[in-house]
Amino acid sequence: MDAAADNDHHISHIKGKQMPTLLVYTSRHGCAEKCANKISDLMDADIQVVNIKESSKFKLSDFDTIILGGSIHAGQVQKKVKKYCHEHLNELKSKRLGLFLCCMEEGEKAEQQFNNAFPDELIQHAAAKGLFGGEFDFEKMNFIERAITRKVAKIEKSISKIDEAAIEKFVIDLRS
Ligand SMILES: Cc1cc2nc3c(=O)[nH]c(=O)nc-3n(C[C@H](O)[C@H](O)[C@H](O)COP(=O)(O)O)c2cc1C
Repeated sequence: MDAAADNDHHISHIKGKQMPTLLVYTSRHGCAEKCANKISDLMDADIQVVNIKESSKFKLSDFDTIILGGSIHAGQVQKKVKKYCHEHLNELKSKRLGLFLCCMEEGEKAEQQFNNAFPDELIQHAAAKGLFGGEFDFEKMNFIERAITRKVAKIEKSISKIDEAAIEKFVIDLRS
C-alpha cells in the first residue's frame, strides 16, 4: 500500500470510528433526497444514506448519529416518517440526532409543520434541526398534484428554493 492510500485508509478508519451516521429519508419528488445527499457530501463522517423503505436493513445500534428527513405534502410529513419516529423513539433519544424537512412554506407556518412532523421529545433532543426549503417540480408531479400546486400555491412553473445555508448550518450543529 503506498503512503497516500495508507493515509486515506487511516483517515476513513478514524472517520468511521468517530461518527458512524445513518441518514434515513423519504422523498416524493426528490427534493429531500437531494438534501440528504448534500448533507452526506458535507459531513466529515462515515455516513450511510438510506431510503426509509430500506431502513430496516440497518441496525440503529451500529450508529452514533441518526439523521431523519422527509417532506411536507398537504400539511403533513410522510406517514412513514411518523411511524419510524414512534417505532424507534427510545433508541433515537439515545443518539446524536438531526431532523430535517423540505417544504415550500416559510417562517411560522414552516415551523408549525416541523413541530407537527416529529414528536416533541425528539425535537427537544435533536442537536440539529433543519428547514431546507423545497422545490416544485412539475415534471415529477401527477395531474392532481399539478392542479393543487397551481390552485393553492399559485405557481405555474417548476421552481427550486433549497436553502443551502440552512443545510450547512445543520451539518455544523450536528457536528459541534
Ligand atoms: C401536492 C403538493 C402539496 C404540497 N403541500 C405543501 C404544504 O402543505 N406545505 C408546504 O410547506 N409545502 C407543500 N408542498 C411543497 C413540498 O413540500 C415541496 O415540493 C418539497 O420540496 C417536496 O419534497 P420531496 O420532493 O422530497 O417530496 C407541496 C407540494 C406538492 C406537490
